[in-house]
Amino acid sequence: MAQVLIEQLGKRYTHSASAVAALQGVDLHIADGEFVTLVGASGCGKSTLLRILAGLETHTSGRVLCGGRPITGPGADRAMVFQHYSLYPWLTVMENIKFSRRLKVNRGGITSADVEAASGRADALLDLIGLSKVASAYPGQLSGGMQQRVAIARALMGRPDMLLMDEPFGALDAQTREVMHDLILHIHRVEKPTVVFVTHDVEEAIYLGQRVVLMQPRPGRIHSIYEVPLPAQRTQDMKHGAEFRALKSEILARIRESAGVNTDHDLLERLNAGSSTS
Ligand SMILES: Nc1ncnc2c1ncn2[C@@H]1O[C@H](COP(=O)(O)OP(=O)(O)OP(=O)(O)O)[C@@H](O)[C@H]1O
Ligand SMILES: [Mg+2]
Repeated sequence: MAQVLIEQLGKRYTHSASAVAALQGVDLHIADGEFVTLVGASGCGKSTLLRILAGLETHTSGRVLCGGRPITGPGADRAMVFQHYSLYPWLTVMENIKFSRRLKVNRGGITSADVEAASGRADALLDLIGLSKVASAYPGQLSGGMQQRVAIARALMGRPDMLLMDEPFGALDAQTREVMHDLILHIHRVEKPTVVFVTHDVEEAIYLGQRVVLMQPRPGRIHSIYEVPLPAQRTQDMKHGAEFRALKSEILARIRESAGVNTDHDLLERLNAGSSTS
């Protein structure tokens, strides 16, 4: 079970010259098996929140529980997928997917029956991501989208209760992203992990999420939480629906407000005047 309880969570980075309130007063409950997406202006603490959930970062106030237990470090119940395909270039696709198992075998405590079961799961995952044909290829021989599919399969190998994804499709082209969106939704239906998915892309956040959590910076906190008014089974044409477009405009407007990027017309004019006199 991976329901998540985040209460009054705070994180201050104090090792730099000036302390940064990366997160302050964050309250969020995530149901077991829910798909939640996080959006917000750069620096609003999305990655920090995800790293705290992964146990890769400590928090400085409040509490965060997963399945009723405080998160005190990384665990096999939580798997992370990053933007840059973090595959081992010297291992084949299949070896990459099985890698965490191999570590456990080396540490002992795993029987040959376990290894066989793991092989079955690795095969099934390869099928699920549509890459059975390239099981013995090396990452360098694959496209970015294919590598990221392998990274997702590797994350799923240990049957995590929670999948934490930090802009996993940020480096892919628009068409490949759409394919990945339908793949990750399919995986979510089949494997039912709780997913927390960070993205800069509001359309991606709405298409994938059951709820979209909008964060704002300085200090990093939750601005609003939107229920996505779409059925569980999503199709690409829903992106053109009126409700989808209205929610997208609303969230984009709120992000622009909080981004602190000045699009003031007079200021731009002044910049222009400055450059013509120099
Ligand atoms: N290791 C660190 N040390 C000091 N400050 C940090 C560290 N990591 C993040 N910060 C600061 O904490 C704040 C939140 O950063 P974080 O990376 O969580 O934001 P983000 O929402 O993921 O941004 P982006 O959309 O650009 O990825 C920022 O002000 C950032 O500079
Ligand atoms: Mg980030």
